[in-house]
Formats: sequence, structure tokens, C-alpha cells
Amino acid sequence: MVEHVSIAIDGPAGAGKSTVARIVAKRLGLLYVDTGAMYRSVAWLAVRFGVRPSDELGLTRLLDEYLLGFERDPALGTLVVRFQNQDITPELRSPEVSGIVSQLSVHPLVRERLTSIQRSLRRDTGVVMDGRDIGTVVMPDADVKVFLTASLDERARRRAEEITAAQGREVSEVSIRKSMAERDARDSSRDVAPLRPAADAYILDSTGKSIDEVVDEILRLVRESVK
Ligand code: CDP
Ligand code: CDP
Repeated sequence: MVEHVSIAIDGPAGAGKSTVARIVAKRLGLLYVDTGAMYRSVAWLAVRFGVRPSDELGLTRLLDEYLLGFERDPALGTLVVRFQNQDITPELRSPEVSGIVSQLSVHPLVRERLTSIQRSLRRDTGVVMDGRDIGTVVMPDADVKVFLTASLDERARRRAEEITAAQGREVSEVSIRKSMAERDARDSSRDVAPLRPAADAYILDSTGKSIDEVVDEILRLVRESVK
């Protein structure tokens, strides 16, 4: 039955959601859906076409007009986002996109469109989906719900190390911490689908824990839920 299991992983930025979700999906042979990449792709469109993040109708028009392709990369097990045949995935984590994404994810019309795509990707396969509102809104019937968190200091340190490893340059942990805290506050305080644990979520604090330890804990929850 593990092949039909649905796992929701929510939590603040840098908690390790996509890292552990990808590994858990691979280990169990499930589809991995990174919903943050979808919100980031709307932000990418906004930057590209000069639409303000506050302009809800302008953003939905962009989404209707420019069909974004969300495909699974079978080798990596991650989501590839295409715009007019161009793979824009590497651009989704730019500071420009990160800086505005939580401003546009407050809009109900934007969320409605993306939530419906996320639910359609689920179809009849098992899935690991990560984001902010997966256990509360997108898959309230998920078999396993995890709210993954870690201290702000540790999350900022992880993100800084990640950027240094990928780009070979030192980044200021202080500025990363500041922008993460702002994004978390915006995500937690919005009216529609705010970041919060579902009532039946398992709260997993990964501060001081390795990736393997977190993955093992989630796999244990899955085994318990399908036995
Ligand atoms: O990887 P990181 O945690 O930094 O961010 P992400 O998961 O890529 O999500 C980027 C932003 O998209 C979040 O800060 C939220 O504003 C928004 N988001 C959301 O509102 N709902 C989701 N299910 C996923 C992301
Ligand atoms: O998706 P989210 O923003 O929650 O986090 P991420 O993009 O997976 O980034 C987390 C970073 O922390 C990655 O560089 C991981 O290698 C590292 N990390 C982790 O994910 N989990 C731990 N328990 C320890 C470190």
C-alpha cells in the first residue's frame, strides 16, 4: 500500500522540506511535488513581465496567458518548470524571485489556480508534497502530515552554506536570516492558507539533526500509518 501513500510536509523556509521530501519520495518510489517551485514560477513571470506582486488580477492574467509546464525530471525526481520550452528551474531560487514570492502568494486567485494544479498532479499515485498549506488545504486527507521546522539560526546557516557550496561565494548569514524571518512572518500571517501545522500534523524539529535522522523519522511515521 506504500505506493498509494500521500505525505504532506509543511514548514518554514530552510527547514529541509525539499531535501527530505525528495529522499523520502525516492526511497518509497513516490512522486515528489515541490509546490514552492510553483509559487516561485509565478514570481519569475512577474519579474519577467514587470507585473507588481500586489497586482492579483495582473498575475492571474499572466498565469492564464503563459502556460507554465510542470514536469517531473525522472533522473532527479524533482519538478522541472518550463516557460515556452525553456527550463527556468535554475532561476527560481534567485534573490529577486525569493524577495517577492511571499508577497504574491497571499492572493486567493493565485492560490486557487496553483492548488488545483497540485491536486491534479496527485491523481491516483502516491505522492510526497511539500509547501506551506499541504496538510491544511491541498491534501487535508494526507496519510502522513509532517510539520518540519528548525531554529531560525540553523535554517539561515543551512541556506548560507547551500549558497556558498553552489556558487562558491560567501554570503551574509545575517541578511539571509532577516529575509527568511520576513518571509516566514508574511507566510504565517496571511488570511488565505497561512503557514501553520495541521491539527493532526507530527511536529518534527530538525534543529541539530542530520538529514538521515529526519528521513528515518518520517519513514517510521509512514510505516506506522500503513500497517
Ligand atoms: O525553499 P523555501 O522554503 O525557501 O521556499 P519555497 O518552499 O520554495 O516557497 C517559496 C514561497 O512560496 C514561500 O515563502 C511561500 O510564500 C510560497 N508558498 C506558499 O505560499 N504555499 C506553498 N504551498 C508553497 C510555497
Ligand atoms: O525546502 P526547505 O526550504 O525547507 O529547505 P531545503 O531547500 O531542503 O534546504 C535545507 C538545507 O539544509 C539543505 O542544504 C540541506 O542539505 C540542509 N539540511 C537539511 O535539509 N536537513 C537537516 N536535518 C540538516 C541540513
